[in-house]
Amino acid sequence: MKKDFFQYQAQTTPHPLSLEISRAEGSYIYDTDGNAHLDFVAGVSACSLGHCHPAVVRAVEEQARTYMHVMVYGEYIQAPAVEYSRELASRLPSPLETTYLVNSGTEAIEGALKLARRVTGRSGIIAARNAYHGNTMGSLSLMDYEERKAPFRPLLPDIRHIEFNRKEDLDRITSGTAAVILETIQGGAGFIQPENGYLKAVRDRCEAVGALLILDEIQPGFGRTGALFAFEHYGIVPDILVMGKGMASGLPIGAFTASREMMATLSDKPMLGHITTFGGNPVIAAAALATLRELTSSHLIPDTLEKEAQFRKRLEHPMIEEIRGRGLMLCLMMKSSQIANDLVLSCARKGLVLFWLLFEKNAVRITPPLTISEAEIDEGCAIILEVLEGMTE
Ligand SMILES: Cc1ncc(COP(=O)(O)O)c(C=O)c1O
Repeated sequence: MKKDFFQYQAQTTPHPLSLEISRAEGSYIYDTDGNAHLDFVAGVSACSLGHCHPAVVRAVEEQARTYMHVMVYGEYIQAPAVEYSRELASRLPSPLETTYLVNSGTEAIEGALKLARRVTGRSGIIAARNAYHGNTMGSLSLMDYEERKAPFRPLLPDIRHIEFNRKEDLDRITSGTAAVILETIQGGAGFIQPENGYLKAVRDRCEAVGALLILDEIQPGFGRTGALFAFEHYGIVPDILVMGKGMASGLPIGAFTASREMMATLSDKPMLGHITTFGGNPVIAAAALATLRELTSSHLIPDTLEKEAQFRKRLEHPMIEEIRGRGLMLCLMMKSSQIANDLVLSCARKGLVLFWLLFEKNAVRITPPLTISEAEIDEGCAIILEVLEGMTE
């Protein structure tokens, strides 16, 4: 299997972790040698309810038996997508009411960018340095890492960058700006939270010049930070909310939500302004609905804050310089990328799944399923401490 993986499956790095999976359940992944791996990563924040949560499996099985794909997005009335969009709207503040369902986070970003240009009639987009919004051409254009962009140029024009959390940069948002796009909490950059009313200042500046505010909640969304969406912590509402990852607890989905009036522009002048074959797929939408219901009818979301406190208490160690983030979107800041790397790889050998962040190389990701238990947190933290004790600085 390993040989075929390298030969027939396109690779993303020269050194993938290449764990061979047999199955996964709850907070554990099992390899083909029968070893259990405690999962502190949750498929990079995707498996919000853990692996194969019974409510999600049941919803998928029932829907798969009833009907799967019957028509492209938006033509037929299919209950899972309609119910999902309605329930999501009931959980969101006004004017976020109408949802466009797509297949991935990056595709939702593309839709949000198109919507912003369509609504404002402007072309300028402002994004933050060190942001990550995905890897299709539009999302890639938003990144400020030239070495990752250069081979793929030309990309989208009219994109400018500001420093996240630096209010002095906000005068770059002008009457030529269609939208400002920010991650509510920066992920790849090192789990950086907005500070000192930063998001409110961005919101105000957008309003002053008629630009839209797009918040990318693909990673912090769906309960990971102790609220259904992280923007709720900062007293603002975006014009366009972008979602993905944890939305269907491990199945491929993305979405963007805006006011009904704004969203209506995608179906008029031109008609079919944004289309997709599989967006809103009923099996995936059923999984998303089961996830949303489970998250909002349980204590899982408030519990993330208690679990965060448990991680912070258990992981006090001189080699951990800082624990960044909120809820179960945490990262350990180590003194060097070498130490971070050794920690991830040594823990992997002891049956604990950790991972890196995209840009901040001194960080080690801890984004477990929201369903992780206290005992499992203790078990994984003990492995981290044991590895750190055996390491020299
Ligand atoms: C903040 C953020 N935006 C966008 C994306 C892209 O999502 P996807 O990989 O589903 O295209 C990611 C994925 O890591 C992300 O973390």
